[in-house]
Amino acid sequence: MSGGHPSPLVNRAREAALAAYAPYSEFRVGAVVVTSDGEEVIGVNVENAAYPSSTCAEASAIANAVAMGARKIDTIVVACIDAPDVEAAYPCGRCRQIMSEFDVKNVVVTGGRGTRTRTHTLDELLPHRFNL
Ligand code: THU
Repeated sequence: MSGGHPSPLVNRAREAALAAYAPYSEFRVGAVVVTSDGEEVIGVNVENAAYPSSTCAEASAIANAVAMGARKIDTIVVACIDAPDVEAAYPCGRCRQIMSEFDVKNVVVTGGRGTRTRTHTLDELLPHRFNL
């Protein structure tokens, strides 16, 4: 699904991205999760000089929500504010699997300023997923 006008949640994710720690890639990402209790929790990507030790914004937002007691997440909004378009703003495979653990239903993605917003179900982004 495509959307034009940014929702308050999309604006919140964009604002969160301003605090991203991304000195290596200069690709800032912010995420907001909405828990099943309606709580909103943010996260940003946190990079590291040892590149693989970096954390994505989605993983960071989900970890923050879990630390606050959440076990189910309805929606995650991801704002890749340095992406040229929405196509370059989709979550990586690892983050999709992390979303799956907490039953994320909807994934909203958006790129840099003025880019479109797209909404997907996690089933669309991660079909035939692994689960125990
Ligand atoms: N990144 C995220 O935080 N989320 C995404 O959906 C895409 C990629 C981060 C990882 C790394 O810090 C930077 O963006 C470039 O890959």
